[in-house]
Amino acid sequence: MAVERTLGIIKPDAVEKNNIGGILAMTEGDGFVIKAMKMVRLSVPQAEGFYAVHKERPFFGELIEFMTRGPVVVMALEADGAVKKWRDLMGATNPAEAPEGTIRKSFGTNIGENATHGSDSLDNARIEVNYFFPGFEVGI
Ligand code: CMP
Repeated sequence: MAVERTLGIIKPDAVEKNNIGGILAMTEGDGFVIKAMKMVRLSVPQAEGFYAVHKERPFFGELIEFMTRGPVVVMALEADGAVKKWRDLMGATNPAEAPEGTIRKSFGTNIGENATHGSDSLDNARIEVNYFFPGFEVGI
């Protein structure tokens, strides 16, 4: 399988609950290499830009309010087949449907406050990694 990079975000709910370390331990424990990482407080325009694909959804306002209410940790994650591997480690969008041993089962609260984000395709992974880590910051 090809080595890929994907974008992971530890969302405000997980940061508020002091679960950054637990999530990073699961991430590294599953074999991901963290190629870049930073903690940021997203502005409303930054969050709206990142989630532009969802702007017609009924939950868009709620999503932006949530993602900007406190700091998040953004990470460029590398592994064989990283896009699917990270989605598998996160589990279903709704933590109630996520299997045991997944991040969202362990740390998610509900479908809106679900602890982590992951890119949904390799094309979007490139766009999303570049959104937060343009150019030289990744690849060290
Ligand atoms: P994420 O992978 O970050 O991408 C879009 C986010 O929208 C998703 O995770 C959820 O947190 C959120 N989301 C999806 N469906 C709903 C919903 N029905 N209500 C609120 N938030 C949602």
